[in-house]
Amino acid sequence: MTISQSLPHDSGHLHVTGRAHYVDDIPVPRDCLHLAFGLSDLAAGQIKDIDLAPVQNAEGVVAVITATDLPFANDVSPSAHDEPLLSDGRVHYIGQPLFLVVATSHHLARRAARLAKVEYISHPPILTIDEALEKNSRFEDGPRIYSRGDVAYALPKCAHHVSGRFEIGGQEHFYLESQAALAIPQEDQGMVVHSSTQHPTEIQHKVADALGIGMHDVRVETRRMGGGFGGKESQGNALAVACAVAASKTGKPCKMRYDRDDDMLITGKRHEFRIDYTVGFDDDGRLIAVDFVHYTRAGWAQDLTLPVADRAMLHADNAYYIPHMRIESHRLKTNTQSATAFRGFGGPQGMLGMERVIDHVAHYLGRDPVALRKLNYYVAASAPKAQHQTTPYGMQVQDFILHEMTDDLLKTSDYYDRRRAIDDWNATNPIIKRGIGFSPVKFGISFTLTHLNQAGALVHVYQDGTLRLNHGGTEMGQGLFQKVAQVAAHVFGTSMDVVKITATDTAKVPNTSATAASSGSDLNGMAVKDACEKIRQRMAAFLADQFGKQIEDVNFRDNQVHIGRRVLSFKKAAQLCYEGRISLSSTGFYKTPDVAWDRIRGQGRPFFYFAYGAAMTEVAIDTLTGENRILRTDILHDTGTSLNPALDIGQIQGAYVQGAGWLTSEELVWDGMGRLRTHAPSTYKIPAMADRPDTFNVSLWGQENPMMSIYRSKAVGEPPFMLGISTLMAINHAVSSCGKLYHHLDAPATPERVLAAVERVRNGL
Ligand code: MTE
Ligand code: MOS
Repeated sequence: MTISQSLPHDSGHLHVTGRAHYVDDIPVPRDCLHLAFGLSDLAAGQIKDIDLAPVQNAEGVVAVITATDLPFANDVSPSAHDEPLLSDGRVHYIGQPLFLVVATSHHLARRAARLAKVEYISHPPILTIDEALEKNSRFEDGPRIYSRGDVAYALPKCAHHVSGRFEIGGQEHFYLESQAALAIPQEDQGMVVHSSTQHPTEIQHKVADALGIGMHDVRVETRRMGGGFGGKESQGNALAVACAVAASKTGKPCKMRYDRDDDMLITGKRHEFRIDYTVGFDDDGRLIAVDFVHYTRAGWAQDLTLPVADRAMLHADNAYYIPHMRIESHRLKTNTQSATAFRGFGGPQGMLGMERVIDHVAHYLGRDPVALRKLNYYVAASAPKAQHQTTPYGMQVQDFILHEMTDDLLKTSDYYDRRRAIDDWNATNPIIKRGIGFSPVKFGISFTLTHLNQAGALVHVYQDGTLRLNHGGTEMGQGLFQKVAQVAAHVFGTSMDVVKITATDTAKVPNTSATAASSGSDLNGMAVKDACEKIRQRMAAFLADQFGKQIEDVNFRDNQVHIGRRVLSFKKAAQLCYEGRISLSSTGFYKTPDVAWDRIRGQGRPFFYFAYGAAMTEVAIDTLTGENRILRTDILHDTGTSLNPALDIGQIQGAYVQGAGWLTSEELVWDGMGRLRTHAPSTYKIPAMADRPDTFNVSLWGQENPMMSIYRSKAVGEPPFMLGISTLMAINHAVSSCGKLYHHLDAPATPERVLAAVERVRNGL
């Protein structure tokens, strides 16, 4: 039994001793060259004249490459073909790569890249949501609208209304390993690329297009990333293509890694949102009609903006049944970094809009916000099927378990008593105010682009009874490889030491999807299970035949194969099968059943199932400085029958802290010229160890997934990120205790914003 075991991450011992190989640790062949981009200093305009002679003449420089030197595709976009590797003369944001320096060292390449003399024709940049709206600068012709019922009719008829505007900041991924790639030229135009990417197949595709060769000429390998968080779904393309182009040109291996500030300046971040809302409800606080307008700042290129903004719309209901709902979504084009995937992929922003609405309504009615949430929840899974409700996009919610989970968490976190104690504290303490906040999560699992929900695997059993495992998923610290290895060992009934986990490799498993949408273990676990079962079946048939038994008499367990009453070691069984000329290698394949989605109409079943979670957070704020800290967090999260509880709990803890960071301390600031001023840890504050909750209780719900997922587990990568929303709700509570007005606290709730909100509430403004 290796399923549901809390086994350590396969590389844990390498991570903590510094022996895990990331791209920059791979020993390089002789004469390896190093690359750096020369970056734009202007947010919008045209290159009038560029003098690259000082770059060319700088120490260590071997070549300088511009757009005109690119023989084939000058495009590193994931889909829209609107993202040149090097500027075609137009300039779209500060930090855009203009040219590529190839030099003998990383340091010399970077130093030379700064020596270009660029003259620009400057255009007025479009930087903010307001400017983009004013200039009608957008992706897609107009807003996308999903709706259910009739908001225009129902809203005015409601007994009560509130409305508001909520600004939600973006977020830098801050993976510890910055973007990196290494290209090693092969004979006859072949190219091998090591890339820190969540999407090796896309790297392969983009490199092939850039070199004018087939995908079969390019092999991409990814052993691991030092974090991706969505930031390596598409943002690695530029480095890999740059390395491949330079390697092809020079015939030498070429490596590139961004320094932290270059990485922050060049690459996309989480999408910033503005959400306008109007909501109608009855005396009890039952929401009847909700009207949302989402504005998102997409940056200069389309990248993954359309599916990100769609997912925000698909999570605008979060856990609540709302009879009349309308969501209008504007995807705005600006002269800033092209915003990209980030844990939750738009879901967090959409969900946060709804949680703000509930918080506002609870404040208006003077009701307990948890009671109000429960009142508006979807009907429980345990209710008769005929009562099950649908989401605004027409998917039936059959597995809704948040009623039970919420009641459980209210008990274990001692909510009502603590809330009373906090209210007492706030009544008598003028300076330090405390707050407690609850938020639920219902997150849809599957890629909304249906064809991406597929995966492949390649498994070998060697004649000594050891296994080598390959699949299309990538490892970014989340523990996917360990989970999938547990699946393989489980199928063969072996211990873990028999299974070798190997790097993701486009030459072994082709046409893979990005490891994203939290579906890594769902998809690749199933594909590996399929491959292993095929081999096991062949072994069982052969061994049954050899020993005159039926195939049903053959059992794989405890590192042994039982054939009737005869027992062989797994090793011996593998050897006999080999000698019997049985194929001990197989591919495997999986596609998620039952999903279908029309993103234009906004109707269908985009998700195979939902993952649920609930969090209770207590904070304290200092009303003289606005500083805040988390005192205690209790989480109950649903991972179905967990494949590995220890890894799942780690994912939940990390995701929660990352979500809390997004909503409290992580603030991105651009100046009026469009320059990102927060481009290093000195100015951009991610949570540190000391920022995690002092008391941090995480439990797993543990009920199996009603859908036929891999061993009835549930995806865990992204959903718990949104548990961080409870932090903002807790700060809202603390701020509210300072007066009567609702305060419209924007995110992130930095000390400055908290202080301003406290002042507004105290002064009744
Ligand atoms: N956990 C770690 N340690 N590092 C990461 O980069 N990325 C998250 C999540 N957990 C990430 C992580 C994101 S954005 C996703 S989509 C999932 O992991 C992807 O992996 P999975 O599908 O195997 O869960
Ligand atoms: Mo995760 S944002 O889907 O890579």
